[in-house]
Amino acid sequence: MCGIVGYIGKKNTKEILLDGLKELEYRGYDSAGIAILEDGNFHNFKAVGKLVNLEEKTKDFTTDKFAVGIGHTRWATHGKPTELNAHPHLGESSYVVHNGIIENYVSLKKALIEDGVRFLSQTDTEVIVHQFEKNLKTMQSAFEAFFQTIKELQGAYAILLVTKSEPDTIFFAKHGSPMILGINSEEEKYFASSDTPLIGHCSDVNYFEDGDYGYVSPNEIVLFDKNNNTKGVQFSKLSTNRLSAQKDGFRFFMEKEIYEQSDVIADTLMGRLGIQNILFEELDKALFEGIDEIKLCACGTSYHSALSASYLFERYAKIKTTVEIASEFRYRSPIMTKDTLFIVISQSGETADTLETLKMAKEAGLKTLVICNVDNSSMVRLADASILTRAGIEKGVASTKAFATQVCVFWMLSLYIAEIKNSLSSEEIAAQITLLREVPGHVKVSDAMHERIKRLSKRYLHGHGFFFIGRDIFYPLALEGALKLKEISYLHAEGYPSGEMKHGPIALADPELFTIALLPQHLLYEKSKSNVEELSARDSTICAISALEFDKADDYIPISACRDYMLEFFEMMVVVQLLSLEISIRLGNDVDMPRNLAKSVTVE
Ligand code: AGP
Repeated sequence: MCGIVGYIGKKNTKEILLDGLKELEYRGYDSAGIAILEDGNFHNFKAVGKLVNLEEKTKDFTTDKFAVGIGHTRWATHGKPTELNAHPHLGESSYVVHNGIIENYVSLKKALIEDGVRFLSQTDTEVIVHQFEKNLKTMQSAFEAFFQTIKELQGAYAILLVTKSEPDTIFFAKHGSPMILGINSEEEKYFASSDTPLIGHCSDVNYFEDGDYGYVSPNEIVLFDKNNNTKGVQFSKLSTNRLSAQKDGFRFFMEKEIYEQSDVIADTLMGRLGIQNILFEELDKALFEGIDEIKLCACGTSYHSALSASYLFERYAKIKTTVEIASEFRYRSPIMTKDTLFIVISQSGETADTLETLKMAKEAGLKTLVICNVDNSSMVRLADASILTRAGIEKGVASTKAFATQVCVFWMLSLYIAEIKNSLSSEEIAAQITLLREVPGHVKVSDAMHERIKRLSKRYLHGHGFFFIGRDIFYPLALEGALKLKEISYLHAEGYPSGEMKHGPIALADPELFTIALLPQHLLYEKSKSNVEELSARDSTICAISALEFDKADDYIPISACRDYMLEFFEMMVVVQLLSLEISIRLGNDVDMPRNLAKSVTVE
């Protein structure tokens, strides 16, 4: 949520900042801005909306000598997406960019206003720059003033600040939001909130820890930890391979990512499938010693994959499993016992709520594991163990391939634990592994299927709501289908357990209520069918997704005949993703950057 970049060097600072922001735009795109300090003067540009607007505004401006610059792409938390609320925020002679939330901004702002400070924005961020300038008036140096300011802030932040009093320096602080420093042999310094903007520019990067702060100038990197001790910078090599995804002829990244699922799942499985056992080289079996329960914790789509995992863990590994929404878990005084393995799931590895629950579990002394798509992310660095999902960079805000690979990892993990716990025989595990090998083939998008969904989508652009329904593991898939539709079409959709409809929601049934029914042939087919019949009898419009044609449905999207319910799960997953995509495209929405959302939610 929000993207930050910074640069110190002699190249075209404007281009470097804008290129970096382009890589981060998916994190927030309400507005964007840059501030460049060159020859003692600031140049500042801001624009509402996508980055192209900022590019347009800055097209006649160039920098070709030493400069210091910071940039930001915003996902609004405090204050509307306006130019005044866009970062960088200005004091009298300093600019700041910030990702996170300053929780005590109201009291700080009140005191500053009493001192005569005039605020231009409604943001929490603006207090940082004014507080810094207030401190600067009474302190010996800009760094002292910055340090004092950080001490006065409560909340989560990644901050970059530049000031005329130290014109070749960027001051930084990280607490709860990601921040990376990159260097190269040309003695340039780069900052960013993820490593993608640095690829191709930097050879080495340092991932800051929570509580880190300091400053960087052309010849100096000064770093302190949360206890105010000086600290050495820990550089590690950065990949030189620019993984930055391109659309490759697809209309949207989301579409490309749906089509990629076959390949990325093959990557996820690669090297992990033995004949009769699962090979997770990254795991030590000791992680499961003394464990009687698994607790899964996540947000959004990752929460849905966690829910799917609970069915697989209890069915195959025979281990008690509970699933928690991270934002709820962190404030409900949960009981955490050491016989519980705490697993967090996150595409980004940076989601604030999930990260916080991981910290709570660690503090409570639980063993922790993260299932994540981003190596070196905050969660991967914090957890005792990690399994990477290998989905590659996911750019579409609506998650697709990350979900697919998470469920595959969970399926494998359930078998891995089943072997440890002896809850499945080697033959049973071998049979499941054979099924896993078939998944990539089942998520390939056929032209015929895509075409059918494209045509059918025109009948689902109105109505007073959608119910995605399913039983067992198809219930989390129903939740995920509804979330996809909501996110990119802005139509109201709910996921519901099929058998629960009669306990209330069926009251909504009429022709304008669209039911997307997941009807797997190999799991509770008859039971799910009768739930759909109940809705059909009340005239709800039914779209059935199944390998078996269903005469009570108004529309029917066939999947291929599968030999197991998990293969049906993956086939139906692709169908609900494509259905949301096509409805959204017909409605004229920006599929990859839906309104009000951002890819990575690094604020509470
Ligand atoms: C999915 O389509 C979302 N945009 C969102 O729900 C996401 O899954 C959630 O914010 C969690 O993100 P994470 O997996 O990066 O932790």
